[in-house]
Amino acid sequence: MLRLFRSIEGEPNDDIIKVADAIIDSERKKGHGKLADRLTGILKRNVQSNQSLKGELKNIFGSTIAIPTDNRKNIPLAVEISREELRHDMVLPAFVEEKIQRIEKEYVARERLALFGLEPKRRILLHGAPGCGKSMSAERIAWNTGLPFLKVRFEAIISSYLGESATNLTKLFEAIASYPCVLLLDEFDFIAKARGDKQDVGEMHRVVNILLNVLEDYNGPGIVVATTNLQGSIDQALFRRFDDIIELPKPGKREITRILKNTLGAIKVSKDIDWNGIADDLLDYSAALIVKIALDGAKIAVLSGKQEIDTLHLQQSIQENKNYKT
Ligand SMILES: Nc1ncnc2c1ncn2[C@@H]1O[C@H](COP(=O)(O)OP(=O)(O)OP(=O)(O)O)[C@@H](O)[C@H]1O
Ligand SMILES: [Mg+2]
Repeated sequence: MLRLFRSIEGEPNDDIIKVADAIIDSERKKGHGKLADRLTGILKRNVQSNQSLKGELKNIFGSTIAIPTDNRKNIPLAVEISREELRHDMVLPAFVEEKIQRIEKEYVARERLALFGLEPKRRILLHGAPGCGKSMSAERIAWNTGLPFLKVRFEAIISSYLGESATNLTKLFEAIASYPCVLLLDEFDFIAKARGDKQDVGEMHRVVNILLNVLEDYNGPGIVVATTNLQGSIDQALFRRFDDIIELPKPGKREITRILKNTLGAIKVSKDIDWNGIADDLLDYSAALIVKIALDGAKIAVLSGKQEIDTLHLQQSIQENKNYKT
């Protein structure tokens, strides 16, 4: 159903959009509220991105943005993800949670800070192992601050035409200079790495330099978040452009147990589960894989006809998933 909805596009009054609305209504009536919310988000985004090609998006702050497109194929250089679709239920160790909350608090207090000539953190770099919440943290910052969320589309930014990648980046940053939003440069090392590519050395060098400049000059009313899992290979010059650099670590025992319990919220869980032993087995696993193991464990329990999930189901799920561990 989600895949089907992702492929729907059109104007608000098109028949296909009306049918999609009716499906959402009927899912909601069946008690599938969460699914209905996600479908609404996807639909809104598709109708919106269709409109944004022609017109402007308006956000709750009353500002508008026409997301710029690349010159050749008219592909938007960023995509807006609707609030309903933002992932935000995160489990983080206290010291990381505090750092992220600090960014949110500074944003909320930006006017008070300005009275003292102070500025909130606006350029954030998140790094760490895959599946530990880098992209999710950016979404959650948007969720908690109420800012709209825009995700940069590098495949649209990087053009094979000389000079255009740099122009695209500049265009995008000009557009957000007066539009309050969280702008996510997800896996932005894509640009920095591409510099190694022989044919494009000159061009990519220019693009990295433009990226340095636009980051440095960004003085807009929102927050720019970049993520990477390749801290080591990022240019030191890029690192210096950020107001805060935060590592998202793999979950510790306490976080593992909380992620498991949160993920299993909809299923009955045995009182005798050996959380301690299970958490020990899952040390050094990514948060994403822990979520998958919990969900697979729940399926194993349901398929075996049990009323509740117990230690054995989770252990079997760990066995089945251990090859996915990175
Ligand atoms: N801290 C966390 N708390 C709860 N769930 C998490 C956390 N981190 C990751 N997850 C789960 O893992 C999924 C993937 O997370 P996310 O996309 O943020 O990872 P990432 O660090 O950006 O990984 P990648 O480097 O592969 O892009 C989330 O949708 C969520 O289900
Ligand atoms: Mg990611």
